[in-house]
Amino acid sequence: MKERMLITGGNALEGEVRVSGGKNTAVAVIPAMLLSSEPCTIENLPDIEDVHALVDILRSLGAKVTYVPGEFLTVDPRPAEGYEVSYRDSQRLRASYYLIGALLGRCGKARVASPGGCEIGSRPIDQHLKGFMSLGAEAEERGGMINARCDSLTGGDVFFDMVTVGATINVMLAAAKAKGTTIIYNAAKEPHIVDLANFLNSMGAKIKGAGTDVIRIRGQQSLHGCTYAVIPDQIETGTLMIAAAATRGDVIIRGCIPQHMEALTAKLLEMGVKVSDSDDAIRVRTLGAHRAVNVKTQVYPGFPTDLQQPMSALLTTAHGTSIVTETIFEQRFKHLDEIRRMGARVRVVGRMAIIEGVPQLYGAPVTTTDLRAGAALVVAGLMAKGVTEIYEPEYIDRGYEHIEQKLRALGADIQRETI
Ligand code: EPZ
Repeated sequence: MKERMLITGGNALEGEVRVSGGKNTAVAVIPAMLLSSEPCTIENLPDIEDVHALVDILRSLGAKVTYVPGEFLTVDPRPAEGYEVSYRDSQRLRASYYLIGALLGRCGKARVASPGGCEIGSRPIDQHLKGFMSLGAEAEERGGMINARCDSLTGGDVFFDMVTVGATINVMLAAAKAKGTTIIYNAAKEPHIVDLANFLNSMGAKIKGAGTDVIRIRGQQSLHGCTYAVIPDQIETGTLMIAAAATRGDVIIRGCIPQHMEALTAKLLEMGVKVSDSDDAIRVRTLGAHRAVNVKTQVYPGFPTDLQQPMSALLTTAHGTSIVTETIFEQRFKHLDEIRRMGARVRVVGRMAIIEGVPQLYGAPVTTTDLRAGAALVVAGLMAKGVTEIYEPEYIDRGYEHIEQKLRALGADIQRETI
């Protein structure tokens, strides 16, 4: 059944909101449960589509799964004999490729259909395959399937050609149970890499250096069960900060990690937004006009590509001209075509968006093309005059837990209806 979201803009968001568990951590930690020889429990998982898809995949592989959305996920991987993830299941999310590293580590073989996920660029997986091969596996992508196998995984040196979150995670998963030590050079440093390392270490893995660009993994023969809670979602926190600024509201975001938000906080301050933080909360409010700023996406701790889309929505009404440069994914400006329909003045030149601030956006029918494009349209809808109809809001459900309820509790006029 098709749905659409309806937002009547103009309400300033006010009050307090709690951040959910991190999507990009959850999608790495759930496949990692397959590496254990005992049941594991994960708490603080966000109740989102990507998590539901992975839970279904673990079940299809034969694992014994108890899942209470919003509470916990317990997985006993011992009965899991499967090593194949179907096209239909892999297409449900990008992170289905983490099953390759996890299954290689678990049973030395994996057959996973090429992943789905958001259309934001070409998204090759050559570095993942190269990493597996550095550990002694055969790995290839052919006919829409990724096949990987090995007699025994052996630790090795892995040099990535570029900083890649996905390949760093995938190699960590495979290497946790390889014989000997793996060293990943030019590793990604995102908070979810550190969280995955912490989870694997709670299972008895020996991983050092996560959060730096060299990660050392001493493989273990077997990993044990544990209970673990994932970190709060960095991108949901950022999206809520941007939404608060966009509506000239006053919002306290609780349960977040302010240190993960430094790149965004710096940009919001530069725009003239007031941002203050304490141990696990951030307050965002706007008193005067927003100034235009330039934003360039970078790997952590730079400005995250996942916040570029909501941020560029916010900049459409800032005073002056902003230049947004997207360095990670080449097709991550599709949301701007939609926001242009709402009155934004934007020109995209290659990997650069030149945004000339206008005084006001106006509600219009728009269509979501990917998860964060959806978040950007929600931000635009919240600040526009009149009603914004957002088609294909299901993309947003992949990564934001109960977004309408959270925004409504802050005073937004937002609903969803079937069409
Ligand atoms: C992860 O994608 C996230 N996805 C993305 O989040 C996020 O935007 C991205 O990291 C960057 O932070 C998940 O965690 C599931 P990469 P991933 O490997 O792993 C190139 C969201 O909205 N590359 O760091 O796919 C690649 O094309 C999503 O939550 C290769 O060339 O990103 C890109 O230009 C979307 N070959 C760059 O590296 C490879 O083998 C970084 O990609 C791998 C990557």
